[in-house]
Amino acid sequence: MDTLQVIDSRTGASYQIPITDGTIRAMDFRAIRTGPDDFGLMVYDPAFTNTASCRSAITYIDGDVGILRYRGYPIEELAEHCTFLDVAYLILTGELPSPGESGEWRNRINRHTMIHENLKKFMEGFRPDAHPMGMFVSSVAALSTFYPDARDVHSGASRQLQILRLIGKVPTIAAYAYRHNLGLPYVYPDNRLSYTENFMNMLWRTAEPRYEPDPVLARALDVLFILHADHEQNCGTNAMRAVGSAQTDPYLSLSAAAAALAGPLHGGANEEVLRMLDEIGHVKNVPAYVETVKAGKHRLMGFGHRVYKNYDPRAEIIKRTAEQVFAVTGANAKLEIALELERIALSDEYFIKRKLYPNVDFYSGIIYQAMGFDPAIFTVLFAIPRTVGWLAQWQEMIQDPEQKIARPRQIFTGPAVRHIGVESLKTAGAGI
Ligand code: CMC
Repeated sequence: MDTLQVIDSRTGASYQIPITDGTIRAMDFRAIRTGPDDFGLMVYDPAFTNTASCRSAITYIDGDVGILRYRGYPIEELAEHCTFLDVAYLILTGELPSPGESGEWRNRINRHTMIHENLKKFMEGFRPDAHPMGMFVSSVAALSTFYPDARDVHSGASRQLQILRLIGKVPTIAAYAYRHNLGLPYVYPDNRLSYTENFMNMLWRTAEPRYEPDPVLARALDVLFILHADHEQNCGTNAMRAVGSAQTDPYLSLSAAAAALAGPLHGGANEEVLRMLDEIGHVKNVPAYVETVKAGKHRLMGFGHRVYKNYDPRAEIIKRTAEQVFAVTGANAKLEIALELERIALSDEYFIKRKLYPNVDFYSGIIYQAMGFDPAIFTVLFAIPRTVGWLAQWQEMIQDPEQKIARPRQIFTGPAVRHIGVESLKTAGAGI
């Protein structure tokens, strides 16, 4: 076995730390002590920049070369040949479904697309201008009150049921949030349609007897869903695993994951990209804007990634999908600004040195806007497919005998022990 030899310069003692899978175990450092009263060494890694928190067989990323695979299949092949629901099956079970399994899987999810009328009423209570992501997070959490059986996280049968319910219901919740903002009546699911077509029906059906989704747009949305389905241990997935590790039910855990996704440095970036393009306003303003980014005034939204130090493979597929969408909808005027922003950024030393490339959020918003979505709903469109990844990662975590409640350590920086004396009470409070 490979080992790491550590010589503690404080004591002269030597330790052999086993290396497995290119990794050392943080707990092995606890044995490194200066004496019996010493707690032992800890590792310090704010933001988990170099810490593996789990073993996972779901998603593989090689960020240096821009590779993304689900269960071994390259994202490019899945986006080309599969439907979102088949990819969901792959992510959750480890294998692509046969045609029979695929139909059965779709039927099982279809049985769970409706939401309880009381949840509908709950959603009606939001302010008309409530942010869709706030409505999504709260409504998913509210599902927990409808399904108390979900608390039995160690029952495989219960987990399967909650997984079907969540995958079936998140498009319905998302569409109700969308229509709530528009003041339109909610549209019930139509299970004759595919997963994405049914979502489009719930979003856009008005008075026509039957909504006919545009097949090109439906396929584009399906591809976008495939690209967003999982992305290993990102901030939202880490929240799902951390909250789920307390054996919290999957609705509450998933709402925590979605709350993390809402942040502008994570899934909320797609909404911010559109705001940024609006602020730039015209191609001629791009160079000046890039200078303000380099001066540290703000970040270039939709650029940069913790693990990709190369072009995000999802961004390349999205760029190609955009062409198909624009052939139907007409181009989004902001595309020209985005292309110029990318051209200038990719040839600028600031971005080259830091390996900042467009990420998944850079072009997705431009497509969504061309399809008619308001930027406020963009992150909800990310949360629908990511629900699959969150659930797969949650299930993997629950079944992993190495996992326990997530509970990091800290380096305490506050005052050493002190005591409340009568004199000190007289002068207390000076700080506030
Ligand atoms: N614009 C300008 N400079 C940037 C950017 C950016 N978008 N991203 C990173 N940098 C700079 C950063 O200032 C730092 O420079 P220096 O070394 O001079 O201090 C360097 O690059 C490294 O940045 P970091 O903050 O240490 O990198 P990180 O891995 O902690 O952050 C990130 C990753 C995605 C949060 C960050 O790149 C970012 O804020 N991007 C913009 C928001 C965004 O597009 N988020 C979506 C990410 S992909 C989808 C998802 O996660 O949901």
